[in-house]
Amino acid sequence: MQSISQRNAKPFLKWAGGKAQLINPISESLPKHLYSSKNLIYIEPFIGSGALLFWFLRTFPNTQKAIINDINPDLYKAYCVIKGEPENLIKDLSLLQTRYYSLKNEEERKDFFLTKREEFNTRKLDSLKNSALLIFMNRTCYNGLYRVNSKGLFNVPFGKYKNPKICDADTIRCDSQLLQKVTILNGDYSETLNYIDSKKTFFYFDPPYKPISKSSSFNAYAADIFDDKEQERLKDFCKKIDSLGHSFLLSNSDLKNHDSENEYFDNLYKEFNIKRVKARRSINSNSTKRGEIFELLISNYSSETI
Ligand SMILES: C[S@@+](CC[C@H](N)C(=O)[O-])C[C@H]1O[C@@H](n2cnc3c(N)ncnc32)[C@H](O)[C@@H]1O
Repeated sequence: MQSISQRNAKPFLKWAGGKAQLINPISESLPKHLYSSKNLIYIEPFIGSGALLFWFLRTFPNTQKAIINDINPDLYKAYCVIKGEPENLIKDLSLLQTRYYSLKNEEERKDFFLTKREEFNTRKLDSLKNSALLIFMNRTCYNGLYRVNSKGLFNVPFGKYKNPKICDADTIRCDSQLLQKVTILNGDYSETLNYIDSKKTFFYFDPPYKPISKSSSFNAYAADIFDDKEQERLKDFCKKIDSLGHSFLLSNSDLKNHDSENEYFDNLYKEFNIKRVKARRSINSNSTKRGEIFELLISNYSSETI
């Protein structure tokens, strides 16, 4: 039986590309063996805010272990702190929240935000303080964005929210409980390969989107961009997973949303199964005008097994 607290586990950060809205189509596209497997192993190499991870761990209590990874060091520290010292994090966030709420006018709140952003950008904080400020800024900056400049400095402006929930103690405690069986890594996704053993493993990949144009800043999670070379390297990695007998599901933006002739992913993943599913995500004003936006779900198992 799932405890009430586990049911509340969810992303503790707002993150570009967050998959909360795709959980339904993804859940319908999982391989059947996950439901019966006793020693399930789950690997998510591009974790971001972990929308699928938290859903997965709640839905499959039979998960024996999980491995998550992200190249972003701030994200890595935050997962480690939530796993290891949730109560200290709650204390720090609660102090930040009390202070923030005590500032009644917008100018004061903005000054406080900018002071904390400067403190974060010294890059000298321990993991606990770094994570408390990351979450604080995620709740108070413009649109809950995470964006750093080429020097790795956080540069999102102040967000003008009335009463943002800075300290969500419930979510932190529930996430912490679920993270106890999770190994957290901070590197390139390919390093997750070192963590599989002979048991059948399920991988879920949610890589950064392929930039729509050279000027597109949609992929600015870290200083680097996930270009065609990167997309191809990831495809080779998927082939390797497949040849080792493991299963994978990969989500990606459907380039046909913008250009109906674009066959890039259809060609790249032609030896695998490709499904187009409706996503509510809006990418930019052009595509939202057309209303429907599709996302690709690519897997190495056929629809008969799902
Ligand atoms: C689309 S986001 C994942 C969104 C996530 N599924 C969620 O629900 O929030 C992609 C993530 O990949 C990370 N990333 C980019 N390049 C990477 C690499 N080479 N190896 C591992 N992670 C990488 C980014 O830092 C970002 O957090």
